[in-house]
Amino acid sequence: MIESRLNGRKFIVVSNREPFMHRRKEQGTVECIRPASGMATALHPIMMASGGTWIAHGAGDADRETVDAQDCVMVPPEAPGYKLRRVWLEPELERGFYYGLSNEGLWPLCHITFTRPEFRPQDWQAYKEANRIFAEAVLREVDGERALVFIQDYHFCLLPRMLREMSGGKIVCAHFWHIPWPNREVFRAFPWGEELLDGLLGNDLLSFHVHYHCQNFLDTVDRTLEARVDTDRSEISKGGHVTRVRPFPISIDFAEDSRKAASPKVKAATSLWHQKLPGLKGRKLGASIERLDYSKGIPQRIHGLEYFFASHPEWREKVCFVQIAVPSRDNLSSYRAEQEAVDAAVERINSRYGTAEWQPVHLLKEHHGPDAMMALHQMADFFMVNSLHDGMNLVAKEFVASRNDEHGVLILSKFTGASRELPQALTINPYAIEEIATAIEAALAMPLRRQQQRMRLMRDQVAHQNVYRWAGRLLMTLFRVEHLEDDDDEHSLEAEPVIEE
Ligand code: G6P
Repeated sequence: MIESRLNGRKFIVVSNREPFMHRRKEQGTVECIRPASGMATALHPIMMASGGTWIAHGAGDADRETVDAQDCVMVPPEAPGYKLRRVWLEPELERGFYYGLSNEGLWPLCHITFTRPEFRPQDWQAYKEANRIFAEAVLREVDGERALVFIQDYHFCLLPRMLREMSGGKIVCAHFWHIPWPNREVFRAFPWGEELLDGLLGNDLLSFHVHYHCQNFLDTVDRTLEARVDTDRSEISKGGHVTRVRPFPISIDFAEDSRKAASPKVKAATSLWHQKLPGLKGRKLGASIERLDYSKGIPQRIHGLEYFFASHPEWREKVCFVQIAVPSRDNLSSYRAEQEAVDAAVERINSRYGTAEWQPVHLLKEHHGPDAMMALHQMADFFMVNSLHDGMNLVAKEFVASRNDEHGVLILSKFTGASRELPQALTINPYAIEEIATAIEAALAMPLRRQQQRMRLMRDQVAHQNVYRWAGRLLMTLFRVEHLEDDDDEHSLEAEPVIEE
């Protein structure tokens, strides 16, 4: 169990996005929602199992009025399991740190989707300042004791070094990078590369989803910094401190998701979909659910569908597609441009092929709760994840977990981490419109028996490599590092449950 392994240390998770956000509704009442974030979805069950504190930016407009005097609130509201400590950022600082450096700089740099990154010196200053504010919040929470701090993502590259220096070595840091790490040629464009990498090397353990991204990171450091990079042991020494670099593919709480998917609430949500979109009845259904982000390849998918209807007229009027695209980061011009591209693509396919009785694509740009999403997973004959690049993509795994009936076909981009674990999906190059159309055709033609064979294997994989195993293996590696044990035989970690399901 994690408590005994922590050996009296506090367990603290740090992320920018909070797992629960309080928002004021139009009628003036306050609602608590779970923001659309793969990172938050994955970490929540770990926090429920281990307790501890999650420190994150309080971004909801009713967040301040729902915390106590220490800026803390227990979550989830209906069954409190852990403490959420909120950090406040002034709008100007948030603009530079979150929208600017994190989302207009590092996000496109790491995803390589041919959206040019922006690097503004004032954003870099804001990024440093926000990392410092978070470091202070962590130190307040640690309160002079020993702690294990588990940092999430690209918003906090400087935090590990700050914590190492400010805590006098009392804090052990692990960092998980939820998005891809680019190759060293791409990283060269980042103007403050040495400082950023040095910040990350304050970690004891730095992990990515796949081996390839670990290799890219080792290579980047080798080229950029004065440090000893040991590629065989996958570790970097700088200034007498060692950072281990390891791949741990993230996952979901499979058992819980698949249990929820079987609940009457999800069944009821299916009827609601049919009421909302009566045109779905009697037709095959395709679906996708994601944030409206240019890394997700939504216009490319719609073009693929258009090509499919052009080359397979026999399927016209027989297939509907539901696209849920949750608006995201929408004060950035790159995201507004993507919204326009999605709107234009949907309008085009609907006006080209739609009839009085049939609308090929239903675009829903709104947040949906878990029941509605699971119901859509279950209704779909095929489900598409065609990200142009994604560290993992948990939506693919959520679809698999919802399919207790073992039916449904997953169409999956080969540029996602998930495609390495789910080879039974129909794999596509998301830039290749013809390939998308061919996969849709193959999905619609696939006999139920073959769907079942594939789905069963995918479900076994996700059930086994679930989020508890992910966290358990990652934390076990860290505990070994801390005790300077030999961690060569990482597979033996499989036998040791650190986080109980
Ligand atoms: C990705 C990132 C997360 C982020 C999420 C949602 O999954 O890895 O860190 O939380 O996108 O994006 P947002 O900017 O809304 O938090």
